[in-house]
Amino acid sequence: MSIDYQEKIPNNVNLDEDRKLKRALEKWLPEYQSWWNELGPVGSQNFDVYLRTAVSVEPGGLTNFGHVKMPDYRWGIFLSPQDENRKVNFGEHKGDAAWQEVPGEYRSELRRLIVVQGDTEPASVEQQRHLGLTCPSLYDLRNLFQVNVEEGRHLWAMVYLLHGFFGRDGREEAEDMLARHSGDQDKPRLLEAFNEKTPDWLSFFMFTYFTDRDGKYQLGSLAESGFDPLARTCQFMLIEEAHHMFVGETGVQRVIKRACEMMIEHKTDDVARFGGISLELIQKYLNFHFSVSVDLFGQEVSTNAANYYTMGLKGRFMESRIDDDHILADVPYKVPEIKGNKIHMVDKTALTAVNERLRDDYIEDCQRGVDRWNKTIKSFGIDFEMTLPHRAFHRSIGVLSEICANLEGEIISQEEWDKRCDDWLPTDEEREYVKSLMEPVTEAGKIANWIAPPDKGINGQPFNFDYVRFG
Ligand SMILES: [Fe+2]
Ligand SMILES: [Fe+2]
Repeated sequence: MSIDYQEKIPNNVNLDEDRKLKRALEKWLPEYQSWWNELGPVGSQNFDVYLRTAVSVEPGGLTNFGHVKMPDYRWGIFLSPQDENRKVNFGEHKGDAAWQEVPGEYRSELRRLIVVQGDTEPASVEQQRHLGLTCPSLYDLRNLFQVNVEEGRHLWAMVYLLHGFFGRDGREEAEDMLARHSGDQDKPRLLEAFNEKTPDWLSFFMFTYFTDRDGKYQLGSLAESGFDPLARTCQFMLIEEAHHMFVGETGVQRVIKRACEMMIEHKTDDVARFGGISLELIQKYLNFHFSVSVDLFGQEVSTNAANYYTMGLKGRFMESRIDDDHILADVPYKVPEIKGNKIHMVDKTALTAVNERLRDDYIEDCQRGVDRWNKTIKSFGIDFEMTLPHRAFHRSIGVLSEICANLEGEIISQEEWDKRCDDWLPTDEEREYVKSLMEPVTEAGKIANWIAPPDKGINGQPFNFDYVRFG
């Protein structure tokens, strides 16, 4: 089924048949647009950007590319196709038909899950709004905007659920999505990582690699929800999300590659002398972004998470493919605990440890990209390996936040931490240095000195294609 772009709000949810919902969303549309114009990408109003737009939710539905004037991008509501036979696959309702309406007794829990997920989407647009001014190439500028418009669409996805299934309080939550702002003193975004600044492009690539990947795992476990509209919404969001992580992974890889080129060319590790970003400094950015993203999975042992699971609202990543009872009350799972001056792994019921399991899956996935980055370094014959820090490093949430740990996960004193943290995390000075490299390059085919061009362009286009036309 292809999506009709004559509609004011393109959708595949038969919006025409629900006049009340349609009216409510049409009222929210201009509020969304003014939010975008005010807090979306700075100065992009007249840009024609080579963007993909979803034309269907079937495979290949995201391969429609063309130049679009940024504010005219058509944000729509797209759910993956319905499976009539779908069941609740875990928790105490396991085996029941999946819910097409919100189960009354779980209303507030479900709303909370949707609000927390929804809040991250516009937050990242706000965090990234200044980056366009310092793009390293038109290709990168286009990728930034693609990520931004799709995060905007993800907000639409969640707002549709709020408006469509939660009545008046859903509409109020939808308003609040545009009232909270990243980093705002009075009305900040709900999760801390989404109140941090994204001040430079290295941070952006790290964010899309590590923090968008948290999104992948959150969406993945919501895609298992017994509440079918939420599951289907998240299934389609996941397809879009893959591109965001691609932007992150290849972005970091290209910064690494450029550093390696400079190291070989000038026979030195000190690439800053030549306007590069050293492997050591890239590693520090990695340490920072990994640790704040790992926090997003919450407490190791969590009754909330256990309740969401038992209720059938939020599962594990790839729940349906896991071979166990999907109830988890009698299944053990290892979580970290502090005993004396050591981190021990202890057994808890898997049910209370679903957060930690999701974190484990996430960390494993993060490692795969790091391995590929190391291949790049190796291909230059350079003896350096990027590593993920231990999960205990630099934590603000969970039991591990109570201690200080080094990169290897050994507990150290506060004093030791204060002495060493500048070796592990970017210092203000280093951040200033990276920022100082951020000069815009807006000529097709040109690229900033601190990053290598991509191996391939977008949608088969060459690197020197005019991905963005300035009006
Ligand atoms: Fe998103
Ligand atoms: Fe994303």
